[in-house]
Amino acid sequence: MGRLVGAYATSHTAMMIRKLQPDNDVHAAVHQAFAQVRAEIDRLSPDVLVVVSSEHLASFSYDSFPQICVGIGEIATGWGDGGVASAEVPLAGAFAAQLLSEGVAAGFDLAFSANPKIDHAFMAPLTLIRPEMDIPVVPVFQNANTEPLPPLWRSAQLGELLRDVITRRPAAETVVVLGTGGLSHWVGTPEMGQINSAFDERFLQHVRAGDLGAILAMKTADVLAEAGNGAPEICNWVTAMAAASRQEGWGVSEPERTARGPRGVVLAYESVPDWATGIALARLAPEEEP
Ligand SMILES: [Fe+2]
Repeated sequence: MGRLVGAYATSHTAMMIRKLQPDNDVHAAVHQAFAQVRAEIDRLSPDVLVVVSSEHLASFSYDSFPQICVGIGEIATGWGDGGVASAEVPLAGAFAAQLLSEGVAAGFDLAFSANPKIDHAFMAPLTLIRPEMDIPVVPVFQNANTEPLPPLWRSAQLGELLRDVITRRPAAETVVVLGTGGLSHWVGTPEMGQINSAFDERFLQHVRAGDLGAILAMKTADVLAEAGNGAPEICNWVTAMAAASRQEGWGVSEPERTARGPRGVVLAYESVPDWATGIALARLAPEEEP
């Protein structure tokens, strides 16, 4: 039986790298929090890093667009988009294959991509958290930008699947799950540059409380309207929270409003207009610093 030893969530905008001004206090605070996550994951030294994120029409296009896709094979390659350097990232192929086969058997209509290319949604956080690119990764793509968008409870079910697969992995395999995206931001619209800090703070309060039920009660359409067309990327936070939870049966039809995940520790939140995003990082598990 494998073991989930850590779960984290971070924003992933490429501007954190492309538009970094080291002498800017806000930028520095964000990078300091990434350095902390980097140090913690280094201490945890997982065998597998599952990165749950979204892509931005680089890997998929409208002639073939999955809702959830698992990257399988041996290697993923960064697109080199958005000013984030490309790199080759080793894949945890056996874990990915098991996630794919067990997920499909459990009723998830998972797509797969062999030796996928991954954009800044994966590469920006990986560059900041593990620039050595030496931890085998399982990239999991969730649609967060192209309607119709799935409900957030489906992302929680994906987290539950991840947790179950981990329990069926070989003994002693250790796993960290990292969800990336959000928080509030508008991409390519007249509102670009706006940030809804009130939305972000409300969301992060739910993260601190481990109140996944309250997050699942949010309608995707409301998230879009309130926090921008980039905000549905919080679905990747939801998957990481659910993976770290012991709760069973997330929202088959309606969310359980009393459902609880682990309490999260918000490591940083900054409203960063010049990066056009509300930037947050959180440790979702363990509750204490590893
Ligand atoms: Fe994004």
